[in-house]
Parts: sequence; C-alpha cells; structure tokens
Amino acid sequence: MENNPFIEEIISQMTVEEKAAQMLQVPVSVIGMDAAREWAKKGVGSFLNVLGDDMKELAEISSKESRLKIPTIFGIDAVHGHCLNREATIFPSQLTMACTWNRDLVEKIGHVTATEVATEGIQWTFSPILCLARDARWGRTNETFGEDKFLAGELGVSIIKGYQGEDLGDDTAVLACAKHFIAYGEATGARDSYDTEITMRKIRDEFLPPFKKAVDAGCATFMTAYGSIDGTPLTANKKALRGLLRDELGFDGFLVTDWDTVNALINRQRVCDNHGDASRVAAEAGNDMIMSTLEFYDAVIEQVKSGKLEESYLDEAVRHILTIKYRLNLWEKPLKQGVPGSIGCDEHHEVALESARESVVLLKNKNNILPLGKNKDIKKIAVIGPNADDIRAQYGDWTYFTHPVPGIEKEPQRPYVTLLEGVKELAQGEDIEVVYSYGCSVNRREYYKGNFPGIPEFMEQCYADNDHDAPFYEEMPLISEAASAARDADVIVLALGDNYNCAGEYNDRADLNLSGMQEALVRVLETLHVPIITVLISSKPLAIPQVVKKSDAVICAFNGGMYGGKAIAEAIFGKINPCGRLPISFPVMTGQVPVYYNQFPGWHEGRYVDCPKDPLFAFGEGLSYTRYEYSDLKFNKDTLTVTVTVKNAGEVKGTEVVQVYIDDKFSSVMTAVKNLAGFERVELGAGESKTVSIKLEEEAFTVVLPDETRVIEPGDFDILVGHSSKNEDLLKVTVTF
Ligand code: NOJ
Repeated sequence: MENNPFIEEIISQMTVEEKAAQMLQVPVSVIGMDAAREWAKKGVGSFLNVLGDDMKELAEISSKESRLKIPTIFGIDAVHGHCLNREATIFPSQLTMACTWNRDLVEKIGHVTATEVATEGIQWTFSPILCLARDARWGRTNETFGEDKFLAGELGVSIIKGYQGEDLGDDTAVLACAKHFIAYGEATGARDSYDTEITMRKIRDEFLPPFKKAVDAGCATFMTAYGSIDGTPLTANKKALRGLLRDELGFDGFLVTDWDTVNALINRQRVCDNHGDASRVAAEAGNDMIMSTLEFYDAVIEQVKSGKLEESYLDEAVRHILTIKYRLNLWEKPLKQGVPGSIGCDEHHEVALESARESVVLLKNKNNILPLGKNKDIKKIAVIGPNADDIRAQYGDWTYFTHPVPGIEKEPQRPYVTLLEGVKELAQGEDIEVVYSYGCSVNRREYYKGNFPGIPEFMEQCYADNDHDAPFYEEMPLISEAASAARDADVIVLALGDNYNCAGEYNDRADLNLSGMQEALVRVLETLHVPIITVLISSKPLAIPQVVKKSDAVICAFNGGMYGGKAIAEAIFGKINPCGRLPISFPVMTGQVPVYYNQFPGWHEGRYVDCPKDPLFAFGEGLSYTRYEYSDLKFNKDTLTVTVTVKNAGEVKGTEVVQVYIDDKFSSVMTAVKNLAGFERVELGAGESKTVSIKLEEEAFTVVLPDETRVIEPGDFDILVGHSSKNEDLLKVTVTF
C-alpha cells in the first residue's frame, strides 16, 4: 500500500516517546480518570472501557492538548449489541445469532450495533470472535459462531460488513476487530488462554479460513490471542503475526494485543524475564497496539534508545494505527456522531426481535406436542425453572449493564421479555392460565445470597463443606413447590441451563452436565406425568441426554437477548415456525468432547465403551413445524455449483437451511469426514418446491499439505446436500476432479 503523505508527515514529527504512546491502549476502568488524562496529554493511541463524559474529555485532551494533536480512539466490547450500555439494544449472543445461519440478518445486527456504538461516540468494537468452539467446556464458547470454520467465516464477514459499512468515515461505521488470532479456542483441555498443541499446518487447515475471509472483507483491526502455539505465545509469534497475517494474508489494518499480554510474556508464559525484552519481542512479532500493559511505554522507549530495537518497528506500527485513524476521519471528527436518539430505538428492537425469532432451534417434538394452542386443549401451563424469568441468564456474556466499573452488575433496563413474560402474554390471548415456580437455582449460592438474606450462615458453610448433599436438602422445598405448581397443569414449560457465572473468561467448565439441582428438578417433575417442554437457556451445549429423554419437546434458545423470551414463547404457541439450526454439536456426556462433526476418521469408529459414538444433537440440526424433502441433486463441475430441489411437504410455511458438505474421498493427508462448504436459506410456503443453487468456493476442494501449501489434489469428492450434517439427512453425488 502507498504511504499516505499526511501520515508520513506526522510520523516524521513524532518523538520516540510519542510513538510509544501511540502504540498504547490504556484501560480507563483500571487506572481511573486522573491517570487517563495524563496519558491523553502524552498522545496515547487508544483508550478502552470508558463511556460518556469521561470519554469526551479524553477525546478533547488528545486532539487539542497533546503536542501533535493526534486524535485518540476508543474501543469497547460491543459483541452482541452495544451491550455494556444499559439502554442499548441487546441481540442474541454470537453463538445464538449463529443459529440463524442468516448472513443478511447478522449483517443487520452488525450495522445496528455499530450505529449505537457510534452514537455513543465510540469508533471501535472488539468483535467478532472468529475462533472455533470445538470443545464446549471452553468458557468462551458462547462468544463464537460455533464449531465450524465455514459458518464462522461467512457470518464473520457479514458482521464485519455490518460494523464497518461502506466507508469507515461514515457516521455509523465502527472498526471491527477479528479476534483472537489464532487458534485460541484450541487451548489444551479447553482451559482459556492455555497452550495449543497444534501445528501450523493444522492452523492453516482449520483455523485460518475465517480470519482469511475477515482480511479479504477489509476488517480494519485484528486482536492477538492470549494463548500460545506449541510453546510460542501468540504475542511473541512472529511467524503467525508477521508471516501469516501480515505478509501472507495481506492484512493492512492494525493489530492490537489482548489484555496485558505483554506482561503475560513475563509473569504467566515466562518467555521473557523483563519488560524491555517483552516489549521488544511484542513489537518485533508484529503487534501494533499494546492493550493495558502500561509498562510497555518506558520499556520500549528504552529499547529504542539503547539500540536494542530499531525505531522502524515503531514507525511501522504507528503507520498502521494512524492510517486507520485517517480512514475514520478522526482529524475532522474525533468522536463518532452516530444517529442521535438511535440507542435502543424501536427500529433496532425490531431487529433484536427478528434475530431472537430466527435463532430458536427446535430439537425434539414428540407427537407434535408443539405448537400449543386451543386445539391442544391446554387450559393451564406451569412455567418452571431457574431461567424462565432471569434476564441475566437470557442476556448472556458481556452484558454487565453498567460501565466502567468491573464487577458491579445491575439489572438491565426495560424493555425486555423473559420466557415467563412471553408465555403469559400469549397465553392470555388463548385464555390459558399460567402458573410459575422457580424450581431450583443454577448457581445455588448466588440465589440464596440474593434472595434469602436470612438464610443462616451455617447453611452456607454446610454447602461449602459438602458440595453434594447440602444443596439437595436446601433446594428440596423449591423443587416440591414447583411440583405442586405443576401437578394439575396440562403442560410444563421448563427453562433450564446455565447463567453468566458459567460462561466467559475464567469460567471454563470441567463438567457439562446441568449444574445445581436441575436434573433432580426434572426427575421430580417427570413423576407428575405432565408433558414437559424443555427450553435450554444457556451459553453453550450441555450434556442433557436424560432431560431430552424425559421431555416431550426440547428447544435450544441459548442466550436470545432482550426478546429471547418472547421469541421462544412465540415458537411454543406456533406464532413463528422455528428455523434455527445448531452451529455446534451437543455431547451426550462431557467425556465425549470433542464431538464436533468434522473430525478425521479413526480406526475404531470413535466409540467409547460407555458412551455412544454420535452426539446428542449434531451440527446443523433443527426441526420445524413442517418437513422438507430433497430431490434432484446435481453438481456442475465447471461452475462449482450445486443445485437441489427442496419441497415443503408440510402444512405451514417455513424456512429451510440447505446445507452442502464435501467429503474428499482420498488425499495425501487426512481430511475430515465432511466439511461444510455452502448453505442457503430458502423460504417455502406449504406444499411449495424451489430449486436452490449454491456456488461453492474452490477452497472447499483443497487440502493443506505437510509443507503448509494449499492445493487441489485430483480424485473423487462426495458432495452431500441436505438438512443437517447427519448422513441420514444428506443426498449424495460424487464428482471427480
Ligand atoms: C480480553 C478478551 O480476551 C478480549 O476478547 C476483549 O476484547 C478484551 N479483553 C477487551 O476487553
């Protein structure tokens, strides 16, 4: 790329100190405003975690009082809506929006989020996560688009387009940030930020594709991962950052480290024993902006002045940062304008509702118990369960509802609709009585602390001393209350799952079973012989085979955002026809993970002696109130286009997600049993048929060789097309290249 004379002129005037400051991103929530003002005067490149008047003041100081008046930039984790603002529109979490398999809708979500973030003045969101969640124990599973590289890449591009719009200088455009580069989700044992025992060949094959698409889509910033690859921390990984991202993929934006990762080189990963070395290593590896490690400033200046680090590294990083600032038009408008009055406006709420509706995944519907309604002769519904009326569980990650004080969480502002509220609203129209009972807690301790301040201390101690027995006795009254409420109901709507305490950084799980007494609650309710509709409101797939067995219907709603409860209720009452599909597989039990669909074939069927081979629910699965028939599958080798006829063979209109997988029959290195290579959504009226065409990318037919090159090897490929990743759902045609 040609150098910009405006930027070059600024760089030529910058001192080493000013360059070091430009490379720094300062966490206002940690250091406070007094210190932040001083950094602004030094010309710091960016701040994170600051909103409102404080942000405006820092913007003013940077662009008016710093020596070169270089505008600063503000970053925030607006990852499913501008979710750290109490008034903003909250969308389904990233995993939940992936259930829509809807590129246009995800782009719309990105655009609405960007508009609200920009209306606050902020120019940068740290989103999307393009890491894959192939082991659901990982705490950040909910923040991903699921387990598949193709789906993650497609939806990643959509949301990036939505955030960045046509031109970064537009009032409603904000910078996207593809994170965390790379293979962060592969940490050993799904322990967040741990070492990743994989090779660069594997990285290119499995984890690079969504990031490559992000570069090609013009994603302006990337974030380095916390973890390490085969012993080399990503922050220090020249091969990954410079070699792969910059030189090979041609990334031309700027690269920010993750939180305090330069310090982590010393105090956690122990590859450097002082700040000078750590700062030099980070700069040489290709990081342009350093998040939160304030020690970087003095250390990097010293490195340059003592001749240990060439100043050209700083010039290069600053050039990357200033070029993006220039494209944002910051010298003209140091803060974004957005659209005044748009934060949480009705039009944005409509998009949140549409997203929640499209992300509902129906997984079981025995004897078509759903949808409920007058014709089913339902007079009384018992809504039971810890997540039926818990807005925080429904909202999910990064929605702390206040800012910038970490650890202080408040209830969000209305409007939002929980499942209980949604069911009540629709039941009223059908003249159905609704009763509610909490049932048991997800995280028992928190529940008691908040709700029963009188609970004696010794009970707390009892819990601490005896994890297994105490909760049972303590929660029995709640469970029996729920059973009484449900006894004479015609149907139970049972909302189970996890909550935000079981998700996110520091919250990996060793056990994917339902927490607390939720399984016991199901066992007790089962004895009532009242049909059970289980709704999973959770951050991730849970291992719930017994719950599925005992339930007549199962809906997976994950974290549906502000209208999640309304959308689920609409699905239950048939006001919408569910069309969500799983972006991630459900394990039968924790020990079965990894259970992602596109594994390599083994010799012994991948079986455990004490667990079935197949997942509880597979990638791509999802039912509806109609059924679809596939026929006439063809593949055109010249145009790489699949055509197939899909018929809605039921009585209500619906939307099918047509999925295309490829199985490379023989190749010189092993390949997955199948890989998603394309998908399209098709709306079909009752009885209607349509021919769907899906053009595949050439890359779908390639393999990555041991020398890390990607090639097409001649041979046979099965093209599998149908309703889900399960073989029984797929038609097949074989093509030879
Ligand atoms: C750490 C997280 O890993 C990253 O995803 C986030 O964007 C930054 N902190 C900033 O909050």
